[in-house]
Amino acid sequence: MKKIFGLMMVVVLLAAVLVGVVNAAPPGQMSEGQEYVVQANDWLSKLAEKSYGDVLAWPVIWKATNAKSETDPSFAFIADPDVIEVGQKLWIPGEEEAAQLLAEFAAERAAVSPSGSAEVTGELDLLCVVELEWCEGMVGEFNKLYPGIVVNWVRMSSGESLTRLRNEASNPQFDVWWGGPVDSYIAAAQEGLLEPYDSPNAINLRDPKLMKAPDNTWYGIYVGSLGFATNTNYLAEHPGLSAPTSWEDLIKPEWKGQIMVAHPSSSGTSYTHLCTNIQLRGEDAVWDYEKKLAANVLQFTKSGSAPARFVGAGEAAVAIVFSHDAVKQIENGLPLVVTFPSEGTGYEIGGTAIIKNARHPDLAKLWVDWALTPGAQKLGPKYQAYQAPTVNGVELSHPELLDVNLIDYDFEYCGTHKKEFVDRFTNEIANADNLKK
Ligand code: F6P
Repeated sequence: MKKIFGLMMVVVLLAAVLVGVVNAAPPGQMSEGQEYVVQANDWLSKLAEKSYGDVLAWPVIWKATNAKSETDPSFAFIADPDVIEVGQKLWIPGEEEAAQLLAEFAAERAAVSPSGSAEVTGELDLLCVVELEWCEGMVGEFNKLYPGIVVNWVRMSSGESLTRLRNEASNPQFDVWWGGPVDSYIAAAQEGLLEPYDSPNAINLRDPKLMKAPDNTWYGIYVGSLGFATNTNYLAEHPGLSAPTSWEDLIKPEWKGQIMVAHPSSSGTSYTHLCTNIQLRGEDAVWDYEKKLAANVLQFTKSGSAPARFVGAGEAAVAIVFSHDAVKQIENGLPLVVTFPSEGTGYEIGGTAIIKNARHPDLAKLWVDWALTPGAQKLGPKYQAYQAPTVNGVELSHPELLDVNLIDYDFEYCGTHKKEFVDRFTNEIANADNLKK
């Protein structure tokens, strides 16, 4: 798949660093600027060092090249500054242009860490899809910056929240949606339920092509991989068994009645599992697989992370969950081991968006801007949320969870077909009448 997280680039306080960089450039050396074609083993930071004498000046080349590509397609558009390819044409700005970019960066960076304001008052209605503790924690953190905003929030799984937004389309009760895989956001945007918003903090995204809607109807706020969480006590009691390492393992007879997963109608986690298998097997073959898998499922749950808790408590042996949710339960002391399917696994980009015709759109913008800052994204682990950040300037708490065989998950495809695939699952594989809470 596309490389999401490569070399960690620290861009916090970049503007301050760049002042030194540009001033330090030898006079006349780069007065005109120049084209440059990427050679093997080039990195933007290496080129910045050659051109400006400082590795941290790489964003000047990144920004200038992307600006050139808008009017001259022979220049590369670099979505992810960690990835440049041999043969791509770059623009290395001269002093004057670099100084101008410096000024732009200073303004953009100023938006990165909003200082908040006690002056802003009002109410914000938040539809929160992540774990309860994280929702609650982030509302408290937001209130530290904006103590005058009363945040009313409700936690719901992805599918439920999408249904709620559909039902309230003519009279929206929520301003902002935060969390849950973007498949649902893509579906919602196609139904006209989301309001585009051009957040100044989108500049922080590691990979804007992947991590935001082209029309700014949603933004990615975290990334997480799908995996299996197996009860280690169960394995110890069944010496012939080992934790599953493939999707095929899950349909073997030895796991009969021992698998737990959420239902894709309520849960974004489970929809990621379904659409992963659709992409691995094709739209025809997948239903036979899902039928066999359902025959091994003890009970479908409502929320995506719940199976990790139930399996940790010994109710079944294997949970299909986002790997970060299993890590949380391991940290809580539950006997689980995390494995990944060798055929490839799906992953989520968790989203945020402003609801169309929201009652408090300006406050919703404040939330979205904040959600796209390193300051907000580094808070996850404080609330046992171990998803990877989408913005530069925050280290991954568990990089190993993404260092697995990820499929090139097609969010657009999965979002567009969400209703059709979920309906087929509900009608042909398992209804959603008796979901475990
Ligand atoms: O916060 C935990 C989490 O797994 C998120 O990573 C994910 O986006 C969300 O829950 C999905 O929840 P559900 O499967 O219940 O819709």
